[in-house]
Amino acid sequence: MKGYIFDLDGVIVDTAKFHFLAWKKIGEEFGFQLTHELNEQLKGVSRVDSLQKILNWAGVSVSSEKFDELATRKNADYLTYVEKMNENDILPGVKAFLEKAKQENIKIALGSASKNARPILQKLGIISYFDAIVDGNDVTKAKPDPEVFVTAAKKLGLSNSDCVVFEDAEAGIEAAKRAGMKTIGIGSSEVLTEADEVFSGFDEILRMEK
Ligand code: G6P
Ligand code: MG
Repeated sequence: MKGYIFDLDGVIVDTAKFHFLAWKKIGEEFGFQLTHELNEQLKGVSRVDSLQKILNWAGVSVSSEKFDELATRKNADYLTYVEKMNENDILPGVKAFLEKAKQENIKIALGSASKNARPILQKLGIISYFDAIVDGNDVTKAKPDPEVFVTAAKKLGLSNSDCVVFEDAEAGIEAAKRAGMKTIGIGSSEVLTEADEVFSGFDEILRMEK
């Protein structure tokens, strides 16, 4: 494999729990309780699509002004959690894994639906590892559409079949498979049933490689 493409939220950093908390608050405004099980369906899904899903689950429809206000407020709340993050929030094994990939001359890209991806990588102090960054500002079609990963491979100058995607979301695994890439699930094999392989995290991958 010549290229590694990493999702951000829930793969490099545990921001998935912050997205969950912020969406839960929005749901509660409509008397809806977001569960961890339903939250799996929000992972990897863009801000706008996530809000639409929550409103559907809550059984409400809102004006487009209200919709925009809710999305803006969710993001402001999410960013209050993100602001407190630093390099200690990088998930275990991630930095060592990036370091190893660099030494092996493997190209590294980010493929994330988040519009906050660049500032988060900067905050974590690992942005310099990335040869290419494709995020929610660069793509029009959200995962499970393969656009984000196909664009990342192009930016790396690699063909899709030379790339491995690391993902914690069902939508992300589907997107990578549709791009014809190898998929490594980060999380639980009970959730990520479609991934080629599943690991609990990068520390486990590093242990297995030894
Ligand atoms: C990632 C997360 C989603 C989030 C999306 C957009 O894919 O897994 O939970 O909704 O990014 O993130 P943003 O930071 O732009 O709201
Ligand atoms: Mg994710």
